[in-house]
Amino acid sequence: MRQRLSINGRDHEVEADGDTPLLYILRDDLGLHGPKFGCGLGQCGACTVIADGAAIRSCQLPLDQAAGRKIVTLDGIGSAAHPHPVQRAFLAEQAAQGGYCTNGMIMGAKALLDSNKQPTDADIRNAPAGN
Ligand code: FES
Repeated sequence: MRQRLSINGRDHEVEADGDTPLLYILRDDLGLHGPKFGCGLGQCGACTVIADGAAIRSCQLPLDQAAGRKIVTLDGIGSAAHPHPVQRAFLAEQAAQGGYCTNGMIMGAKALLDSNKQPTDADIRNAPAGN
């Protein structure tokens, strides 16, 4: 099945079964390696992307449900030369640790701050709770 996707502000056409997890399309077809494969079960958050403003697990979003939504991946928010403010904060605080789950932490923080400019301490603690 051919589907159109909006990823990081660009339109893409991909050919895959409608039940293919978006994560596989991002990594294998589009070469976007910000989202990671961790558990594949919606439990670890390594695959987090932002879909229409909400942080979601791309391993749990089938291609046919991703079509028509505005998807943002870690690859689309900043670069090594021009990191996103959340990425700069992670660098400044040396927050990467092992690095594998960092994608989910950053994308969750970005989704929180995009929707809530004055988060409480509880909001901040809850945002990465699923990672
Ligand atoms: Fe673990 Fe998607 S890979 S939640």
